[in-house]
Amino acid sequence: MDPNKLNELIARRRAIFPPFYTDKPIPEEIIHQLLENANWAPTHKRTEPWRFQVFRGSPFDRQDNYLADAYTKITPSERYSDTIRDKTRNNILRADTVIVLILQRDLQERVPEWEEVAALGAAIQNLWLSATAFGIGGYWSTPGTIRELDTRLTLPKGQRTMGLFYLGQYETPPPPGTRGPVADKTVWHNG
Ligand SMILES: Cc1cc2nc3c(=O)[nH]c(=O)nc-3n(C[C@H](O)[C@H](O)[C@H](O)COP(=O)(O)O)c2cc1C
Repeated sequence: MDPNKLNELIARRRAIFPPFYTDKPIPEEIIHQLLENANWAPTHKRTEPWRFQVFRGSPFDRQDNYLADAYTKITPSERYSDTIRDKTRNNILRADTVIVLILQRDLQERVPEWEEVAALGAAIQNLWLSATAFGIGGYWSTPGTIRELDTRLTLPKGQRTMGLFYLGQYETPPPPGTRGPVADKTVWHNG
């Protein structure tokens, strides 16, 4: 593998938001490959704590206003905004695919929970980079309503929603990424 290609892919990955998605469908085999790549994330004691529920035009994401209604339900009136409610609904409708990201806590608790969250993060990065390589837009969303999703999806023991991953085709070039220099975040100890 050409390391320069990997460097470029990593730097090119961006959060691409649903308002930029087009109507062009994502072939299902690509979604399978994204999940396959997510599944290769590192995992302490091989707990493989990532779980996914994939929504592609199902009644839940198309007809149900569950997340928007949950937003209305849990948001104190002084913080409530119609714009956020509409955005919640429109994100779901614009996306080709919504993957609900779920953490499966090891039921024997063989590793601390933070290690499982870290492994899930690695899985999502695999998925996100793979989407970038396919030219597909995606972003990890963590709305305040995610706890409500635990109830709606009747998750089994030890499972907890960790966000939604929106996916869609896009054409408008994303804005350039920005990061502070890694040198400011690194201490070297050379011999
Ligand atoms: C754990 C996690 C949760 C995130 N949740 C949100 C979110 O709720 N809303 C949002 O707009 N972006 C969310 N993002 C995406 C970030 O906004 C995005 O990665 C950041 O702006 C940097 O942009 P880039 O990924 O294009 O470099 C999340 C990212 C991560 C890793």
